Amino acid sequence: SHAAISDVLAGKYPLKETLTIKGWVRTVRSNPNFAFINLHDGSCFDPIQVIADSNLANYAEIAKLTTSCSLAITGTLVESAGKGQSFEIQATEVEIIGLVEDPDTYPMAPKRHSVEYLREHAHLRPRTNLIGAVTRVRNCLAQAIHRYFHENGFQWIATPIITASDCEGAGEMFRVSTLDAVNPPMKDNGEVDYSEDFFGKEAFLTVSGQLNVETYCCALSKVYTFGPTFRAENSNTSRHLAEFWMVEPEIAFADLATVASCAEDMLKYVFKAVLAERMDDLEFFDLRVQKGVVERLKTLTESEFVRMDYTDAIDILLKSGQKFEFPVEWGIDLSSEHERYLAEKHVGGPVILQNYPKDIKAFYMRLNDDGKTVAAMDVLAPGIGEIIGGSQREDRLDILDARMHEVDLNPEDYYWYRDLRRYGSVPHGGFGLGFERLVAYVTGVQNVRDVIPFPRAPKTASF
Ligand code: 4AD
Ligand code: MG
Repeated sequence: SHAAISDVLAGKYPLKETLTIKGWVRTVRSNPNFAFINLHDGSCFDPIQVIADSNLANYAEIAKLTTSCSLAITGTLVESAGKGQSFEIQATEVEIIGLVEDPDTYPMAPKRHSVEYLREHAHLRPRTNLIGAVTRVRNCLAQAIHRYFHENGFQWIATPIITASDCEGAGEMFRVSTLDAVNPPMKDNGEVDYSEDFFGKEAFLTVSGQLNVETYCCALSKVYTFGPTFRAENSNTSRHLAEFWMVEPEIAFADLATVASCAEDMLKYVFKAVLAERMDDLEFFDLRVQKGVVERLKTLTESEFVRMDYTDAIDILLKSGQKFEFPVEWGIDLSSEHERYLAEKHVGGPVILQNYPKDIKAFYMRLNDDGKTVAAMDVLAPGIGEIIGGSQREDRLDILDARMHEVDLNPEDYYWYRDLRRYGSVPHGGFGLGFERLVAYVTGVQNVRDVIPFPRAPKTASF
């Protein structure tokens, strides 16, 4: 067996020990007497330096190694003389496992590539510093999210990917069908006959697991779902994907304030985890991607998130003297320029915006006593805008029915959702965290396409 470079650099092996490490060459510098190989295996940001002496039998081959050749190196762990690194390996054997054919045309030569170029090489970009660091931070955040919910008594529920309901009511669902796309069976009225389809009715990829997870919430009290969600919205922006991951907790016997506190708590928990576990990658983001990300995370874990009503936010935007592309008035759905003004200019940190007009929000949100607003809350973050959307749910059947009627939903399709309000209804609520937006926020990476392993966006899906 061989050692992970992260363990070696963290000092988990005693000096003078003989170790084997395996990985890929980042860089090689050689002269007639010895070669310095920087080897990485993805377990941490830093490569380890290996010194290969010219008396090794295959020194001629070693001296010609290029970026991304794969190696197994056995050697002695010694203290590093160079600065920046505490340990290095004095090689006794360098086994060349895989060479790089034609190094001059290798697409991931060790230099700075644009993120657009990296997206065009989706199969090779995991080898870069940037995508390696993003991947480790993404993993750290996902693990921390599961840990947070586990420690706080939430059950993880696997909600379905194939569904018949449009949770957000925005008509942005991808259809799932086994019908012949060119010649589907037709009804007499000229519409496609979906009773002939695989499920005997129309089916789609889910836009949110919320409605399903509510059924488990109304039995297990504290639940969450964390999985892929899909939106066929044609938004070609740096914060929209057609396939993204969402974290959706749902809490019984809870009001809007409880939901907002849970969001703030969970965010702080995962910020602390990434500060504790991935400082190597965070320092890289700070240096190369966005100055100040480490300081920002530290501040976030220490300060209270500002809470503000939608109505007050509209006032602030109107009095700001800013020229916005989209005009501001009570009732509008805030666009990202408005969200960013509030978070960046007005608050200077994340803001929890609450109590939105009911007409711009989904049917399931609880109507407030004013009859005009609903108990909704969004978390807006500087640099990115909305990262979380949530609400207290409408738990009163008559009001839910009236609302469904207003937005033209058929109560029969939602008999199961209505039943939750008929049989032991409870105040409850939850939120959805866009996981890629969180990773973008934490790392300072500008585009959500660069924080998911294989981005799917309009006209960009490949293998
Ligand atoms: O605000 P949204 O649409 O809320 C819901 O889906 C609720 N059912 C969640 C709930 O209460 N359980 O989406 C939630 C979050 C947004 O705040 C955003 O961060 C992210 O999901 N999101 C997207 N992320 C990437 N690409 C897209 N196209 C996204 N659409 C939403
Ligand atoms: Mg939203």
